[in-house]
Amino acid sequence: MEQKNLHVAVVGATGAVGQQMIQTLEKRNFPIGTLTLLSSERSAGKKVMFKGQEIEVQAAKPESFETVDIALFSAGGAVSKALAPEAVKRGAIVVDNTSAFRMDENVPLVVPEVNEEDLKWHNGIIANPNCSTIQMVVALEPIRQAFGLKKVIVSTYQAVSGAGAQAITELKSQAKAILEGASFTPEILPVKSDRKHYQMAFNAIPQIDKFQDNGFTFEEIKMINETKKIMHMPELEVAATCVRIPVITGHSESVYIEVEKDAVSAEEIKHVLKEAPGIVLQDDPSEQLYPMPADCEGKSEVFVGRIRKDLDRDHGFHLWIVSDNLLKGAAWNSVQIAESLLKLGLVK
Ligand SMILES: NC(=O)c1ccc[n+]([C@@H]2O[C@H](COP(=O)([O-])OP(=O)(O)OC[C@H]3O[C@@H](n4cnc5c(N)ncnc54)[C@H](OP(=O)(O)O)[C@@H]3O)[C@@H](O)[C@H]2O)c1
Repeated sequence: MEQKNLHVAVVGATGAVGQQMIQTLEKRNFPIGTLTLLSSERSAGKKVMFKGQEIEVQAAKPESFETVDIALFSAGGAVSKALAPEAVKRGAIVVDNTSAFRMDENVPLVVPEVNEEDLKWHNGIIANPNCSTIQMVVALEPIRQAFGLKKVIVSTYQAVSGAGAQAITELKSQAKAILEGASFTPEILPVKSDRKHYQMAFNAIPQIDKFQDNGFTFEEIKMINETKKIMHMPELEVAATCVRIPVITGHSESVYIEVEKDAVSAEEIKHVLKEAPGIVLQDDPSEQLYPMPADCEGKSEVFVGRIRKDLDRDHGFHLWIVSDNLLKGAAWNSVQIAESLLKLGLVK
């Protein structure tokens, strides 16, 4: 990586994703000269440690981006819509974790293992895909390259950290209340701004984000549309059902795919995934080896197992895909995009 002392800003620095971004920047020894940490007024003045030094969090304003080279945004769509253009106006490249710009045709939507080349046509903003989409396309792309891909049907088992720091607190306090026989009132999940809230502890909720007119939730629509955009396959058939489960970190996915090529074996799929970037193959039924969220927490790779050929359809396969939603699903993919920008000479 080209070594520069960059001015990096993290917007949403006190949030579930922002905290992981700061730790990932430190772990990767990203070439930072100045780190600016931004939040809302609520957290302004808080101190956050970076490389053994305390940095004071500031309230995000347009002027916060003067002299910033790269700004990593994860403070919600409204903040990105308001402040990302201000950052770009001041010369920063924005890597945005929210859904604000993902389907904008002037904004590349990037998972470096899949479509790093799309960074070359950015216009200041680069979108980081939805967490559940990222881990799925990392596993689908090498299969597509080797055998072609026609159809994807995914059911997710998503962790509460995907809904932010407040959802983690809600799950923990609910579990405690239920075990102690105390009463509780759900306030955050499934969607803080929706009308009804449900028990998350010891439960499964088949709603992530709000319902659309077609009966799908917005999370499901994001998975469908973003997969097609990242893989440059508008014709790919994709369907999704997204479910929240009482796991704190690590999204799991049961994925059914149909490939183009005839007579492919499960062993061939495993071989391709074993060699693919960013993937750890964990697949040995004789040893009860398969990926689980508790094992993937804190790791940056995508873990794949339970690979089987469908019993009825020659072109059909089943996979189980697990990854840390706060790392590959958010913070690590964003920092990886920033590293790719440096590698490709795209930072001024
Ligand atoms: N969690 C995931 O797995 C995941 C994955 C991919 C993308 N994302 C996206 O990333 C974003 C943040 O998610 P999160 O899980 O980190 O949420 P979170 O834990 O609720 O954190 C939100 C962050 O945004 C800041 N913020 C809120 N309003 C703000 C404002 N008006 N101006 C500036 N900063 C503001 C908060 O600061 P205060 O401390 O001041 O409130 C906090 O730092 C969301 O858009 C989410 O969709 C999340």
